[in-house]
Amino acid sequence: MYTPKRVITLGQFIIERQSDFPYAKGELSRLLRDIGIAAKMVNREVNKAGLVDILGDYGNTNVQGEEVKKLDVYANEQFISALSSGGETCAVASEENEEMVPINSEISKNAKYLVAMDPLDGSSNIDVNVSIGTIFSIYRRTTLSGPSNLSDFMQKGTEQVAAGYVIYGSSTMMVYTTGKGVNGFTLDPSIGEFCLSHPDMKIPKLGFIYSVNEGNYAHFPVGVKKFIKFCQEEDEKSKRPYSSRYIGSLVADFHRNLLKGGIYIYPATAKSPKGKLRLLYECNPLAFIVEQAGGKASDGFNRILDIQPTSLHQRTPLFIGSPDMVSKAEELMMRFSQVSTS
Ligand code: AHG
Ligand code: MN
Ligand code: MN
Repeated sequence: MYTPKRVITLGQFIIERQSDFPYAKGELSRLLRDIGIAAKMVNREVNKAGLVDILGDYGNTNVQGEEVKKLDVYANEQFISALSSGGETCAVASEENEEMVPINSEISKNAKYLVAMDPLDGSSNIDVNVSIGTIFSIYRRTTLSGPSNLSDFMQKGTEQVAAGYVIYGSSTMMVYTTGKGVNGFTLDPSIGEFCLSHPDMKIPKLGFIYSVNEGNYAHFPVGVKKFIKFCQEEDEKSKRPYSSRYIGSLVADFHRNLLKGGIYIYPATAKSPKGKLRLLYECNPLAFIVEQAGGKASDGFNRILDIQPTSLHQRTPLFIGSPDMVSKAEELMMRFSQVSTS
């Protein structure tokens, strides 16, 4: 007899797992649901991106004389609006807003959660039909009452209660963790639901892919140069050389490496001595996910999740992925930390 396979939607999964949450009252579940809804709206718009020639360029005026919002601005507004009307978020820190955005809606007055996000990551890839994403990180506020303030966001990554990303790729997926493993959901466009497709994701201990913008090679620290050379060496036993893969969308590069095994590096360079990527809404959420999947995330010397933030948009170098590869890169960073040229 044919028994249909049980499809578990994101909504069902969140409800079933609600008791996993330390302070479960359904609030975090609702917040994750709100993020899922905003992601679907952004997905719809991202899918239309190729039509800009017909509908009007982003940032310009369309044929109806309306302003066409840039997709990162659109995504930012969509997420903030979903989080405001959801009632569980008291403040948002976003790549698109210089200052933190307090949520003052009536239903949010008892809200306990903070969200840090990169509403659209990899935005330089929008116009060329290449995968982009959204990254988010959720904390509990530390101030007890009154309006939330900046100090609420100055928590280490270890304090995250949940984190995730959405990848708008050949299919759209949401991957998240609440500290009990990592689960991935693929959007079924025919029913408009994220469905559990990748339960309990684990990153291979050792991968065979390295992802770094080698155009900046001349300005890399010696440890990174040595690691790249290590990846390129011929060695049959350790299956080297590894493959180089770099999309230029952190979410997409990270997602591929999470599934296949690999390392993504955005080091400090002479041009950006603190690296390029942002601690609060790019590095911390992915670090939480990778650790939950059995991987590692480091700034080259220390664990990303242990960095004490001091400002909203602070940057950090990032080495993230398969644990054996990140450890090898750290070893070379340490060994050559005093050397200024290769
Ligand atoms: P964003 O589009 O949110 O500004 O992020 C872009 C980031 C990241 O997604 C990507 O991995 C990295 O920038 C690429 O930088 P380079 O072009 O310097 O390699
Ligand atoms: Mn980004
Ligand atoms: Mn962005």
